[in-house]
Amino acid sequence: MQHQRVLILDFGGQYNQLIARRVRELNVYCDLVPSEMSLEQIKDYDPIGIIFTGGPNSVYEENSPRIDGGIFSLGIPVLGICYGCQLMAHMLGGTVKSATTSEYGKAEVEYFHSPVTVGMPDRAVCWMSHTDRIVKLPEGFKMLARSENCPYAAFGNEEKKLYGVQFHPEVNHTFNGTLILKNFLYNVCGAVGDWTMSNFVANQIAALKEKTGDKKVLCAMSGGVDSAVAATLVHRAVGDNLTCVFVDHGLLRKYEADEVMQVFKDGLGMNLIKADDGAIFLSRLKGVTDPETKRKIIGEQFIRSFEKQAKAIGKVDFLVQGTIYPDVIESGKGKSATIKSHHNVGGLPSVVDFKEIVEPLRDLFKDEVRKVGFELGLPKSVVMRQPFPGPGLAIRIMGEVTEGKLETLRDSDYILRTEIAKAGLDGEIWQYFTVITNSKTVGVQGDFRTYENVVAIRAVTSVDAMTADWARIPYDVLENISTRIVNEVKHVNRIVYDITSKPPSTIEWE
Ligand code: XMP
Repeated sequence: MQHQRVLILDFGGQYNQLIARRVRELNVYCDLVPSEMSLEQIKDYDPIGIIFTGGPNSVYEENSPRIDGGIFSLGIPVLGICYGCQLMAHMLGGTVKSATTSEYGKAEVEYFHSPVTVGMPDRAVCWMSHTDRIVKLPEGFKMLARSENCPYAAFGNEEKKLYGVQFHPEVNHTFNGTLILKNFLYNVCGAVGDWTMSNFVANQIAALKEKTGDKKVLCAMSGGVDSAVAATLVHRAVGDNLTCVFVDHGLLRKYEADEVMQVFKDGLGMNLIKADDGAIFLSRLKGVTDPETKRKIIGEQFIRSFEKQAKAIGKVDFLVQGTIYPDVIESGKGKSATIKSHHNVGGLPSVVDFKEIVEPLRDLFKDEVRKVGFELGLPKSVVMRQPFPGPGLAIRIMGEVTEGKLETLRDSDYILRTEIAKAGLDGEIWQYFTVITNSKTVGVQGDFRTYENVVAIRAVTSVDAMTADWARIPYDVLENISTRIVNEVKHVNRIVYDITSKPPSTIEWE
């Protein structure tokens, strides 16, 4: 069943993915596409509405991104945000001028009645981020909101269903900004709210059944949210025709490997093969201290371990990948400098004999993947799992990885996780884990001098892991964690808390 779709044309602003997530949260499907999409392609896409995002340019710059003016005559509602609204005003005959000062941050706006502002208070705070501003509206447009610095903070032409907002309704700082998006979608575009995760699950299962028939399907299960949800969805559709391979590299957290087997093999009855290769990984890591070398060894051995299992299974028709929408949006964009060589299962296709890749989650944002996980009945521990690096605990042990250090790390990390959950902080902190530093310090325990490891706690808040801030965990919670670790975990006599943000640090220590 086809659902209604909104098209978001990307002009390069920093909040663009957030706009798409907000629209999806309002139960309307949308795609974020480059602004260069042609008018023909736009018509073929058949959107119920179009949103222009913000962007860093000025409409007066020679090479600033444009759009075919025919878009305004298609009869499809358009909402321009920030640069998007300036572009609309400029192209339709209004005047945009460079202001002497930028307006950045919170501003108070006064709203006037219209289909997009209905339900907004008379005055409220919104989030502005612009230098240019509109000083004259195109003919037929009405002012719908204004602020001290911005005479046309929102405007529209009700008959033509064209609207613009200078501020960012998608960010939380804009009071009730979601209502403006909702009004546009439901009051102007005629959305019916047919994008729900239960619809998605039903549609995907039907589509997967039709696509794969009674053919053989293979999936690499890492324990992470994406591969777990992708595998479960495919399992619902094809049952025993799906085989999952879980490479246990021995670098997972306490109880994690057992949990994967329990949930997916015992609980869901999946055909799940576990490659118990911890000893091979550890022996290959012997004596290795350089972070990049560790990552390369683990990434390469992961492929070898998977390959061995795949060969034993033989030819399959389909390979499942847990690709999600942000990966799809990001791909094709220029590569930035490699800070760390990331390891994930992206290298697998070349070692498996298969006909086609299936990516059941490629239209979903992470929060939607989680909703699907719950919809499929997966436990919270799987669905809300923190991001976990492919090379696992190896990059949280500075210096050589040994069985002994792994044990210390697992035990201390388990205490940290338990205490964070007990304090009710697990939903607020993006990632939290312990690190075995490569240093020993003197301590005193009982009446004895000790000379043992320093364990560091790393806990950060973030929205996308690109930047992060250290989490302000209350002192009493930190105290509990510290006391428990030094008392209960062998070979640790000191705990330190990492108070650096990213940048200049990274989230992981290696
Ligand atoms: P950094 O340490 O670069 O980490 O700030 C950013 C995010 O990426 C995770 N991470 C990885 N994820 N394979 C992955 O799939 C990797 O090799 C890898 N290294 C780091 C890290 O946990 C954080 O969420």
